[in-house]
This record gives sequence, structure tokens and C-alpha cells, in this order.
Amino acid sequence: MGFTFFLLILTISSVVASPNPFNQIHLLMPHSGSAGHKHSNLDCLSWRLAVETNNLQKWKQVPEECETYIGHYMLGEQYRKDVDLVTEEAYEYAKGLNITKDGKDLWIFDIDETTLSNLPYYASDAVAFGAIPYNATLFNEWVEEAAAPAIPGALKLYKQLIELGFKIVFLTGTEEAYAEARTKNMKDVGYTTWEKIIYKGVSDGSGVVYKQAKRKALEEVGYRIRGNMGDQWSDLLGTNPGDRTFKVPDPMYYIG
Ligand SMILES: *[C@@H]1O[C@H](CO)[C@@H](O)[C@H](O)[C@H]1NC(C)=O
Ligand SMILES: *[C@@H]1O[C@H](CO)[C@@H](O)[C@H](O)[C@H]1NC(C)=O
Ligand SMILES: [Mg+2]
Repeated sequence: MGFTFFLLILTISSVVASPNPFNQIHLLMPHSGSAGHKHSNLDCLSWRLAVETNNLQKWKQVPEECETYIGHYMLGEQYRKDVDLVTEEAYEYAKGLNITKDGKDLWIFDIDETTLSNLPYYASDAVAFGAIPYNATLFNEWVEEAAAPAIPGALKLYKQLIELGFKIVFLTGTEEAYAEARTKNMKDVGYTTWEKIIYKGVSDGSGVVYKQAKRKALEEVGYRIRGNMGDQWSDLLGTNPGDRTFKVPDPMYYIG
């Protein structure tokens, strides 16, 4: 999988210099397998904006006609720029906080599509950038590979926050069964230290319910959540959201 992604990057790099990137990049897109969800005259940029603003909820997959659009967005420069703008703004905010350095000022990061990228998996034919319905078996196999790259802007922010004196908590929807692979993956790509890394237990519920309960528990033992960053609104909504929340883009899947 690592090699496949390397090849993908090579292909993308050559595409950047090419006069007609669309046709070349289109070769990376699967041509079959996406099922249903046709909307006539759907504008994919409008769709993505509605996703990011949480106006669209509980969607099951990327609309078939937006698979190519989302593929271009995720593999191209725009996604990277959109993430970097958020992480840079988060750093400006964090720098301006007068933290007490008593070890209680926390920054919460989600993992999937916030600190680690599953894009090598999502770019595969079997997933089609989310245009093919989620398959837990396949996704969990990918998680076990522990091969997800870091999201560069998030890794940079993580290091800057530690430098400023923040404690880091990773709060992830990844289940405890995958904790070993995930922890290895995090360390391998540069997330080497943390106050806590919280995996989801079997009775934790999901989405907002799970994440707000864990944040509440952190505040109850005296931590101050100064910032909270995630790719899903369910990382940021609910009680105890933190002093300020930051949403990084993710048009590939929805977790409520
Ligand atoms: C920062 O906090 C400390 C201790 O609470 C306080 O003495 C200091 O004046 C604060 N500095 C700023 C710039 O607010
Ligand atoms: C998920 O992928 C596995 C492995 O390819 C396959 O056996 C299974 O049928 C898939 N499940 C669904 C619901 O498509
Ligand atoms: Mg996530």
C-alpha cells in the first residue's frame, strides 16, 4: 500500500507539470463500482461546501458524479491549502493564549483525517474517495497496516503546540482493538508524545456522545481544553467542546 501511494504521488507530481492534468489524473479514477446517489445538476463544489458547513448530514457516500471532483480536490493542492490555513490559524490562536504551563492546558486532536490521512486507502479503486459505501472490513485491514501518513499541517501544529507548552490529547473513534497498530502508526510518522491517546471502547457509543463524554471527563479532572481540532462536526459539537474548535476539511465520509 505504501508503494502504491508512492506511485500515486509520482503520478500526481508529473500531472502538476502536465498541460492537461485532467485526463491524466482521471486515469487514477475507477470507472465502475460506485452505486447510485444521482442528483441531476448537482454542483460538486456546492455539495462539498454544504458538507463542510454541516448543512448536509447523515450522508452515506460521495455522490457518484462527484467522485472525480473529490478525487481531484483531495489529491491536488486545494485540500492541502485548506488544511494549512486552518492549522496556521490554530497556531495564531494558540500563540495568543497566556497558558499557565501547569500541565493542564490541553489541545485535543482527532486522528483520522485530522492528524493521520487515510487518503492512500480512500484513493484505491475499492473506495473511490468515498463514492463506494464504507466497508469496515477493508478499512480495518488498512488501519492494521499502520501505514497512514501524517497530515503535514497537523504535524507541524502538533509540534508548535508542544513547544508552546500545551498537553496533547488524541481522541479518536478508532476502536481499542486497533490501538496497537494505530499507536505505532502515530509514532512512526512523528506524533511521538502525548498526555493521552483515547481509543473508543465497545460501550462508548459513537460520534458526539462518545467524544463529549471523554472531553467532559478530562475537564472534570482539571484539564482546560483550549483547542479542539477535528474533520467531523461530531468531533466538535456537544458539551465541553473546548474554548475554540477548528474544523479541517473532509468530503470523503460523514460520522454523526
Ligand atoms: C499571563 O498570566 C500570568 C499568570 O496568570 C499573569 O501574571 C500575566 O500578567 C499574564 N500575561 C498576559 C500577557 O496576559
Ligand atoms: C467488504 O470487503 C470484503 C473484503 O473484500 C468483502 O468480502 C465484503 O463482502 C465487503 N462487504 C460489503 C458489505 O461490501
Ligand atoms: Mg476524523
